[in-house]
Amino acid sequence: MGAIRLVTEVPGPKSREILQRHERYVARALAPGFPAVIRAARGALLEDVDGNTFIDLAGGVGVMNVGHSDPDVLAAARKQLECFVHTDYTVAPYAAYSELAGRLVELVPGAEKAAFFNTGAEAVENAVKIARSYTGRKAVIAFEGAFHGRTWMALALTSKTRPYKQGFLPLAGEVYRVPYANPYRPPVVWRSGRSFGEACAALLDGIFAEHVAAEDVAALIVEPVQGEGGFVVPPEDYLPALKRRCEEHGIVFIADEVQTGFGRTGRMFAVEHSGVEPDLVVVAKSIAAGFPLSGVLGKAEIMDAPVEGAMGGTYPGNPVALAGALAVLERFESGELLERSERIGETVRRRFGELAGEVEMIGDVRGLGAMSAVEFVRDRETKEPAGEEVSRMLRLAAERGVLALPAGLKGNCIRFLSPLVITDEQLHEALEVLEGCVREVAAGASPEERSAADSLANPI
Ligand SMILES: Cc1ncc(COP(=O)(O)O)c(C=O)c1O
Repeated sequence: MGAIRLVTEVPGPKSREILQRHERYVARALAPGFPAVIRAARGALLEDVDGNTFIDLAGGVGVMNVGHSDPDVLAAARKQLECFVHTDYTVAPYAAYSELAGRLVELVPGAEKAAFFNTGAEAVENAVKIARSYTGRKAVIAFEGAFHGRTWMALALTSKTRPYKQGFLPLAGEVYRVPYANPYRPPVVWRSGRSFGEACAALLDGIFAEHVAAEDVAALIVEPVQGEGGFVVPPEDYLPALKRRCEEHGIVFIADEVQTGFGRTGRMFAVEHSGVEPDLVVVAKSIAAGFPLSGVLGKAEIMDAPVEGAMGGTYPGNPVALAGALAVLERFESGELLERSERIGETVRRRFGELAGEVEMIGDVRGLGAMSAVEFVRDRETKEPAGEEVSRMLRLAAERGVLALPAGLKGNCIRFLSPLVITDEQLHEALEVLEGCVREVAAGASPEERSAADSLANPI
C-alpha cells in the first residue's frame, strides 16, 4: 500500500468550509496555493482535516529538510518551552544563541561570527546593512531571476515584478541588476577560449562601466543556485569568477543560502561545491525545521562593522527556534541526510530525464543534490515557457495526493523541495503521480485549450 490516502475529493468538505472562512476574513494577498487544509505533518507526509494523506514535495518551501515533526527537534523545543519562551537576547541573553553561532561558524565557509534574525528577508536586509557599514558604500548588485524576500530592501533585490512588486513602488534604491549564468537560457554569446561562467561573470564589468562605479558598490548578493528563479545551477567557475571581481573592487560578496542551505544541494551549503568563501552568508528556512530563524554569518571584521546596538529587534534569535536549530545540526552530523540529498536528486533527474524522451514539453531537467527542477516549454526550439500548463499539472497532482511547487519567472518549472527524510517508496509514489499529471496535461494541451486556459490563468 502506498502512502497517499484519499478518503474524500480534494478539497474535502472540512477543508472547503475552512477555506470559505479564509476568503471571508483573510487578506486576498495571502491566498493559499494548495486546496487542502493541513491538520498534521510527519516526515514527508501531510494529513488534512478531512483525513486525506499527501506526499509533500514542497517541505514548507524548503524549510523541512530534516522532515516534519522530527522527534529530536520537537523534544529540544519542548525542553526550552518548559524553561522560557522569550527575553529578547539583547536585553537578557541566553546560552543557545552563542552556542548555535559557534556551531555554525564551524560549518559555514569563511564564517567567524554570526547574528540571528527571524526570516530570510530580515537576514538579507541585515547583510546589506552590514556591508554598507563596512564599506561606507551604497550600491548593491543583484541578479536577474533572483529572489531575496519581500521586505523593502529584499524586495528591491528580488527580480520578479508580478505578484511581488506590483503596486508597491517605490522600493529601496541603489540596486543594480546583472544577468545570472543560466545555462538553459544563456544571457551571453560566448566565444571559445572563455568559459560560459567567465563570460557571464564578465557582464559585471559592463555594469561597472555603464551603470555604477565599482567603487560605489557595497555588496553583491547571489544565490549559489537560484531558487524561485527556477533552480538554475550556474557553471562551477561562475561563483569563483564573481568572487574574484568582488575582491578586486573591495565589494562584499554575500551568498544567499536561504533556500540552498542545510543539505538541499547535497552539501551543507551550496557554496561548498564551488570552493568559494563568501564574505557573508545568509541562512534561514531549514535552519530550524519550521521555527522562524535566520542568520547572517561572515568574517569577523565585516560582521563587527555596525556599532553596538545597531542591529537587533524584539524577537531575533528566539530561544525555542535556537533549540530547534541545534537539534537540526545534530541530525546532519552523521552525513546521512547529505547522502540522501544526492540520491533524491539523482532519482528525480533520472526519472524526468527518461520522461523527456516521451514528453516534448519537458525543456530541461536540472539540479544539484535534491535541489532539482523540471522546466516546461511549449516548443523546445523557441523555449516558450509553459507556465499555465505547469499550474494545471500541480493542481491535478494536489487532487491526486501530491503537493509540489512551481518556480521560475513564468512559473513554468516544477521544483522539488521534499524533506530529505522522504523514503524511496514515498518518492517513487509521488513521482509516479506527478509524471501521470505531466503526461496528461502535455497530451491534452492543444493550442485552443491553451489559449482558453491562458485567458483564465491565475498566477500561483
Ligand atoms: C534565496 C532566498 N532568499 C531569501 C528568501 C526570503 O526568506 P523569507 O521568506 O524567510 O523572508 C527566500 C524565500 O524563499 C529565498 O528563497
